[in-house]
Amino acid sequence: MTDLMPILGYDALEFYVGNARQAAHYYRTAFGFQVVGYAGPEHGVRDRCSYVLEQGGLRFVMTAGLGPESEIVQHQALHGDGVKDVAFAVPDAEEAFRVAVERGAEPHREPYVDEDEHGKLIRSAIKAYGETIHTFVDRSNYEGVYAPGYKPTRHQQPGESTGLQYVDHVVCNVDLGDMDKWAAYYANIMGFTQLHHFDDEAISTEYTALMSKVLWDGTGRIKLPINEPAQGKKKSQIEEYLDFYRAPGVQHMALATDDIVQTVKAMRANGVRFLTTPPTYYEDLKTRLDWSTIDADLDQLAELGILVDQDDEGYLLQIFTKSVQDRPTVFYEVIERHGSLGFGVGNFQALFEAIERDQAERGNL
Ligand code: FE2
Repeated sequence: MTDLMPILGYDALEFYVGNARQAAHYYRTAFGFQVVGYAGPEHGVRDRCSYVLEQGGLRFVMTAGLGPESEIVQHQALHGDGVKDVAFAVPDAEEAFRVAVERGAEPHREPYVDEDEHGKLIRSAIKAYGETIHTFVDRSNYEGVYAPGYKPTRHQQPGESTGLQYVDHVVCNVDLGDMDKWAAYYANIMGFTQLHHFDDEAISTEYTALMSKVLWDGTGRIKLPINEPAQGKKKSQIEEYLDFYRAPGVQHMALATDDIVQTVKAMRANGVRFLTTPPTYYEDLKTRLDWSTIDADLDQLAELGILVDQDDEGYLLQIFTKSVQDRPTVFYEVIERHGSLGFGVGNFQALFEAIERDQAERGNL
């Protein structure tokens, strides 16, 4: 079967933030990105400032508007800092748009071409959950920094890499009852299939529950878990997100490393705050997992708060940050996979309890 919607990978994650200069500084000093490009009034872009950050195969763009009439500023006022665009690299942005719209996607922007002395960049975009969009990017004929209008940065100190390599998965939270609708969106429009399904039995604590379906492109390059809240005794973390983001949107991005111990050490030293794990979790791990196939030092994992999960295919190491902005919305996962294609279902209990401790502290449980 020919893939009518071939996706090469993530092109970039673009955030709309209140202060792009400071956001770029945070991702440089705390997460270890390099600021490689900039667009703004100095280069003739009148309505916004954007900073392009790269590390390994990761590319983030921090964008802020410059006045109250800006749709970026309005987006930020409503949602707080968040992910506007989960952009995919494609071989043909016109064809991707045509196929997606033909299959029922709502257009966000018709195919458009930007050109400068570095070549030609072709993009198009469709709407996704909430106000999030997916831009299709064909940069096969473009050699410049990110896009026309951007210039290499001159005044930024180089960041020191923390070892983050690529986006492992991007998770969205959608409204109650909408998970299946969005799973069908990725199945019908992108041709994705379901990799996992977690029901509220698997993902619940005494108080809160959620359901999740993971859609993927079949190769592992793109994995998109979709969460919806489920009935619990108290407010679920998904509801808390939806209350504060005021819409469906990106909940967390998992960033892969091949040395999670070094990455987390560096990020902690840089001031990134992670969820805490109680010592009982590590006591429990000693007997819950088959340690003959896991190459990790449990004491070191416990010291750093890194979680472990195992399935038939292998194991994974993971850890979650706290929210990276004032609203309890977007956070990150750092993940190191060894064969496992899972998402750490064995850790959901401990993880949710950790999230609930923080929720209770904020008065939102
Ligand atoms: Fe995750």
